[in-house]
Amino acid sequence: MVKEVIKRVPLLGDMARWIYGTLKTKQEPFPGSAEYWEKRYSTGGGSGVGSYAFFAEFKADVLNRFVSTHHVQTVIEFGCGDGNQLSLAKYPTYLGFDVSSTVLSKCRELFKSDPQKSFRLMSEFAGETADLALSLDVIYHLVEDNVFAQYMQTLFRAAIDTRSSTPAIPTTIAAMRGRT
Ligand SMILES: C[S@@+](CC[C@H](N)C(=O)[O-])C[C@H]1O[C@@H](n2cnc3c(N)ncnc32)[C@H](O)[C@@H]1O
Repeated sequence: MVKEVIKRVPLLGDMARWIYGTLKTKQEPFPGSAEYWEKRYSTGGGSGVGSYAFFAEFKADVLNRFVSTHHVQTVIEFGCGDGNQLSLAKYPTYLGFDVSSTVLSKCRELFKSDPQKSFRLMSEFAGETADLALSLDVIYHLVEDNVFAQYMQTLFRAAIDTRSSTPAIPTTIAAMRGRT
């Protein structure tokens, strides 16, 4: 009886149907951040709204100006994404890493005529460094603490110029010291 009354009230009825539908829909368990992105890319998804249109142009504008002003020669990025953001970049040389082999294949195809760009899996990171190490719209996607810590360590290591007077490459985030 109450159900029938609620159904007939225009806004209330719609809202009740929406709440019921949402609660009824089974939430798939989160597979983990790396698996999430691989699945997303392999089923035709992209890097998301931050990598397109206004946001991409804004990010590219800031970064291209930074690279030019500071005479940055080498750029390394962790979580390079589907290449749309990168297509707006003006970097002399670029090395992009990601956890998704699908998106890396896409990037290799997209930039096959540009010998200054290369792409690798995160698991293949071998201590490369660059003038500029980038992380764009990635860290809030790293929901697992251990993945976040590992990622930050890699990012900071890649930004440290081992030719400088920095005493040692830090081995853990808590022990980080590179103050030059
Ligand atoms: C929102 S997209 C951003 C892509 C690109 N940086 C941009 O600004 O267009 C996030 C990217 O981070 C990657 N990613 C997720 N976890 C990662 C991890 N642990 N290490 C490196 N990349 C990761 C995803 O595969 C995805 O390509």
